[in-house]
This record gives sequence, C-alpha cells and structure tokens, in this order.
Amino acid sequence: MGPISLEEYRRHFSVAPGYLDFARYGPPSDAVTASSASSLSMVSRGFAEIDALKDHEVACLSIVARMTGRPSGESVTFASSTSAAITLVAMALAGGAQAEVLVSPREFPANVYPWVRAQSFGGPRVVWLDTPEGKVTPDVVARSLTSSTVALVVSGVDFSTGYRADLGGLRDVLGNRLLLVDAIQGFGVCDVDWSVADAVMAGGQKWLRASWGTGFISLSSKGEARLGEGLAGWTSVKNPTRYDREVHDTLTSAQRFSLTNCDLIAASRLHAALNLLDDATVPVIEDAVLSIVRSLREVIFRHGGEVIVELSDDELSGIVSFRLPKFSPTQIHEHLLGAGLLVTKHDTYVRASPHATTTLDVVDQFDAALTNLERRRPLRPATGT
Ligand SMILES: Cc1ncc(COP(=O)(O)O)c(C=O)c1O
Repeated sequence: MGPISLEEYRRHFSVAPGYLDFARYGPPSDAVTASSASSLSMVSRGFAEIDALKDHEVACLSIVARMTGRPSGESVTFASSTSAAITLVAMALAGGAQAEVLVSPREFPANVYPWVRAQSFGGPRVVWLDTPEGKVTPDVVARSLTSSTVALVVSGVDFSTGYRADLGGLRDVLGNRLLLVDAIQGFGVCDVDWSVADAVMAGGQKWLRASWGTGFISLSSKGEARLGEGLAGWTSVKNPTRYDREVHDTLTSAQRFSLTNCDLIAASRLHAALNLLDDATVPVIEDAVLSIVRSLREVIFRHGGEVIVELSDDELSGIVSFRLPKFSPTQIHEHLLGAGLLVTKHDTYVRASPHATTTLDVVDQFDAALTNLERRRPLRPATGT
C-alpha cells in the first residue's frame, strides 16, 4: 500500500479547525486515543495481555530507528519526554571539566538546564554560543569551536523563531564532534535527515500527535560509543532480570538510557501515532504545513506585521512567530481567540503553528480576523504583553 492522501490523513483527527498551537501540543489522532483506551482496558484484565503490550515498544523503537537512519531499534530507547531524554544524554556526555559543550542561551530551557546541571556534576563546561537572531548556523558554530569542544547541542527547529537548523551544515563543521539534537519541534513535520545527529531527542506530544508521556532517544553508532554510561536504572544493564545480587555491566546500546520499563500504554499511543505518520509520510505532511505557513506569513506582512526573525525558505518550519506593531501580544491573542483561532501568546510576540490537519480556510479566517482587528483599533494602548 502506498502513502495515504492528505484528505485521508485528516480524517483521523477531530481537532477544531482554528487550532494553531501545535508547537505547544498536537491533539492526538482518533487512532492514538483508541489505542490508549484499548491498551488500558487490556491491562485491566491482567494476565498475558501485559506482555502483549511490549510489542508496541518494540515497534516504536524500530520505526524511530528507520526514521532516524539507524540500523535497528537497538539504537533507540523510549523516553517519557524531551526533557527526560536530554537529561539522560547530558549526564552521559563524557570529557570532564576540560571538555566544552556548545549551547545557545536562546534554546528552550529544557535544552539548557540539563547541560548546566551536568557541568556541575563534573561534565563538560557549557560554552554559550553568541547567536545573532537566535540562529545556530554552521558559521556561528565554526567560530566557537576549540580543541576542547566535544559536542554541540541544538534544536532542529527553534521553539520561538521557527528557525530550522541546517543539520547537514552543522555536521560538516563539527567534524568528529558530537551533534546532539532536541528534535521535538521538527520531528515528524520537517523532512530532515536526522541520521547526521549523534543523538536525536524528542517527545511525542507536539508534531507526532502521540500525547504526553511519549518520546525517544535515538543514537548514532558514534553517539553510542562516545557517550558514557550516565545515569543507570535496573533496565540499563545486561541480564536485568537475573536477580543475583551482582552489579551487572551496563548495556552498550541506547537501551542503557531506559532506567526502567517504559510506560506501555504510552508506547501504544506512540506506536499508533508513528504508524499513521508512516502511512501519510513526512514529506506530505511537511508540504501541507509549509503551504499554510507561507500563506500565514503573507497575511501577516500584508497587515503590516513582522515575523520576529526573518527566515529564508529553507529555514521555514511549522512555526510562525510574529508581531503587529499597533497591538500587544495579549490583544492579538485575545482577538484571534474571539475569531476561533488559537495561537500561543509569548511576552513579546504570538506564535502560530498549523499542522497538516489545518486547512487553507483557516488562512482566510486569519486574514479576516486581522482586518477586523485593525478596524477595532485602538482596543487599548499596546504594551509589552
Ligand atoms: C524545543 C523544545 N524542547 C523541549 C521542550 C520540552 O519538552 P518536554 O515537555 O517533552 O520535556 C519544548 C517544549 O515546548 C520545546 O519546545
């Protein structure tokens, strides 16, 4: 069977049409909700059904392995969130205080604190990247490299500007150093070659539409070899169920970051989400999202607005963050909400993030809402928030 059409894909969701907040949370598909309910009902009966759910975890690991260019599911482990994934990798980043890890201070905080904390536990020293406009470009990174740099940490897509990093270019300037990627704002929606990253870390609650409690770490062979043992739990070791009171050797595969058995209900949701994504394919989803994103940008510019950071076509993702000079983010957010459109309100801008289930009608609705907003001016003086 070939990939399903966009129309068919859309039929799997019941999200409200004006929802433009996928960068915050991607309402799950009906298949994900059904899988969650049926898995929970299965375990409520007890007995062998519990083991049957394990298949979901195995399937997730192998789909993620394929999507991130790894040889097998052995290179992937389930994680309960992006933050958990990043923390586990940060605590395993070896090199000691003589080593340096490059991090942009503009990363989402979930991709900042673990590196700072790992440093205080004796891990590599955090070197803050100077990123004009928040873009972690190959040039910016090349200028910051020293003989002590062991890794770069970066978001595949920036949560705030929507900037899509040039992972291939970053890989080239890094040479043999590790490229560690927070992929939550791009995985499943941007057609990116994730195989160039040594660790791909993502949660499933946004663009994967698998809801909370889902995620993964996918490691390259270099990532597996170069990262240390890090934090360990009882499933991080060889023969975990041989209860012989010995301290067992840590696994060398990505499974060493498992810590314990994964939430199999969550795995059943991630599996349903990944299956549907596989059926529709990421390029189809990306095309649909980018066409809405380009249209939203045109509407914003036509109404005298500005995006918070100018992006070239190659740098676009599912996120459009903008301002309208005469209105505060609160005014814009409230007004759009009144028009049936939900965006994220940040302190100095608003962020619209459509998905493949968003149709072009929403662009007209957005256009009409901004026209009305101008007519109603001034609602009240525009302030910072
Ligand atoms: C880039 C980025 N990383 C990490 C997170 C946090 O993800 P989680 O809640 O899965 O830990 C977010 C959440 O918005 C994010 O945008």
